[in-house]
This record gives sequence, structure tokens and C-alpha cells, in this order.
Amino acid sequence: MPFDHRELRNAFGCFATGVTIITTLDRNAEKIGITANSFTSLSLDPPLVLFCVADKINSFEAFEACRHFNVNVLNEEQVDLSNNFARSSDDKWDGIAHGVGRNGCPLFDGALATLECDKHAMYEGGDHLIIVGKVTDMSYDRSNGRPLLYFQGDYARLA
Ligand SMILES: Cc1cc2nc3c(=O)[nH]c(=O)nc-3n(C[C@H](O)[C@H](O)[C@H](O)COP(=O)(O)O)c2cc1C
Repeated sequence: MPFDHRELRNAFGCFATGVTIITTLDRNAEKIGITANSFTSLSLDPPLVLFCVADKINSFEAFEACRHFNVNVLNEEQVDLSNNFARSSDDKWDGIAHGVGRNGCPLFDGALATLECDKHAMYEGGDHLIIVGKVTDMSYDRSNGRPLLYFQGDYARLA
């Protein structure tokens, strides 16, 4: 039974999530970054996480080809950063302060947690590609603020 996409989005959007920026490097070592709320932890042993990348976005090929990526779990003060990486643009990285992980991919100061990953597996998922990563390095700071949330198509904060 075909569903109206707007209706599907509305239903899916009832599931509240955190917000991440996933970063990698493309074949020319250019920085790539997208805001993603499809991130989820997957396995403790081995340590696996996953996210899903839409097949229509400019960054798709870079994520499909990459060997490493980083997950930046955003705090509630990082709405502007989230918006910046939620749009298609050539100047996404202009003026954006960031560090670099051991794997060479960008990391953001102030994130609640960062996870450096080796690509572990990929699976087809309809109009998305499911990318599984094995965590090779991580950092987190429980006192570094509160999470940025996404619910029903908008940002939200913990009450
Ligand atoms: C809160 C939020 C969550 C998002 N989650 C995802 C996601 O999980 N996967 C995805 O492919 N795009 C997601 N997007 C959209 C991408 O961030 C956006 O399409 C991407 O930045 C496009 O960049 P590009 O065309 O330069 O690759 C999300 C956007 C927002 C605002």
C-alpha cells in the first residue's frame, strides 16, 4: 500500500532522536559533513554504530566510498552548526572551527560525544544506504551540556 510521503514523515517524526553531524573525507581529501538523526548505537562487542545516508544528497558517493567517518553528537547549543550541515552547499565548511580525529576526519569541539569509526559494512535500505561503523576512538563529556533533540520536524530540548 503506497503511503503519502508527508504522512510517512509525520509518523516517523513522532520518534524523538538526538542530532549528529557525520563527517568524512572524499577521494580528494575534501571535508564532507551532514546532519543526521538516523544515527544509532548497534553493538557493544564488537563496538558498532550505524547511520543512514540518503541516495540523493551530494555527499552520498563520498560516504559510499569512504573508509572512515566520525560521529559528532550535538549539544543543545549547536543548532546553528546542525542547520549549517543540513543544507547542500559548497561553502558548508567556510568559517567552521573544527578539529581532526586520528582517522583524519573532522571533529567538533563542544560535541556531547564523538565517535571515530572505521567503515564496517553497508546495506541497502530503500532510498537510503545503511552504513555500519566500528568505533576505533571515542570521547564524551557528561558535563558538556545537554543533547540537541529532533521531534516532529523541529529541534527540541530536554525539559
Ligand atoms: C535533523 C536532521 C536530520 C537529518 N538526518 C539525515 C540522515 O540521517 N541522513 C541523511 O542522509 N540526511 C539527513 N538529513 C539531511 C541532510 O543533513 C542534508 O540532506 C545534507 O546536509 C545535504 O548535504 P549534501 O547535499 O551537501 O550532501 C537530516 C537533516 C536534518 C535537519
